[in-house]
Formats: sequence, C-alpha cells, structure tokens
Amino acid sequence: MKTFICQVCKHIAFDEAPVDCPVCGSAIENFEKDDDALKIPADYDNLTDTDKQHLPVVNLSRKCSITYGSKCTDVLIKVGELEHVMQSEHLIEFIDLYINKKYFSRLAFTSNNIRPAALLHLSADTGTLSAIAYCNNHGSWRTKIKLDA
Ligand SMILES: [Fe+2]
Repeated sequence: MKTFICQVCKHIAFDEAPVDCPVCGSAIENFEKDDDALKIPADYDNLTDTDKQHLPVVNLSRKCSITYGSKCTDVLIKVGELEHVMQSEHLIEFIDLYINKKYFSRLAFTSNNIRPAALLHLSADTGTLSAIAYCNNHGSWRTKIKLDA
C-alpha cells in the first residue's frame, strides 16, 4: 500500500501525497513516502499485548444517541482493546479518521484527564471507515470497518 507521512504532524495520506497536509497545512515537500507507515500485527488471530494496546476498536450504531436519529451513524472508538497509558512520554496523541482513504477528522489527545476514546456522529452511512491511532512510541495503527455492513 502506498502511504505518505507528514513529517510535521504525522498524518498519513494514502495513494499520493496531498498538496497541503489536511491536518497541519504543511506543503507537499514535508510528506515522506513510507509504505511501512502502518504497524501490522504479525498474526491477527493471536494479537500481542502491544497490538491490543494500539489497534483502534471501532463499533457502529445506527441508533443515534444525541443528534439526528436515523440520519446519523454513531461510531464508538477506543484505543485499544487493552488500555494504553496516557503519560507525556508515552501516549496516544491522536486518531485520524478517513472514509474510503479520504481524511475527514483528527481527534487529538493529551496526557491530561482524557482517555483515547470518543463517540462520533457521522452523516455518512456508506464506505469504509479507517481509524488510525498514533502512539508517540509505537507508531500508527489502523482499523477498518464498513459503514454499510
Ligand atoms: Fe504505545
């Protein structure tokens, strides 16, 4: 898979580097091609504790809890199946979100008072949602889920 990383904010772009980073606005020159940008578990059937602490866990619900009823897709995301530490020297800094490889939002975290989890309310109800969690020690980890499955 062709992936490009913004050297300023660690955003990952698929297939080609964008003219400007959609997260931090950096120019295309700041993107580096790195086809190994995403960490891949060696065995999805036997995840290690490191895998379980970093792979986003994504669940969908058609029944919206706070916004526009059936027009909304609730997406519950947490990193990961095992809780990840949130200390300044080791934390989940952000989750970037994509539909069909097109970026649409970044959830940013600090080491203060928050866990790497969120509830999103999407207007989209088709396509493949990707969530990429970035750990400042262990890199970027992706989970994909079909919105219309
Ligand atoms: Fe980590």
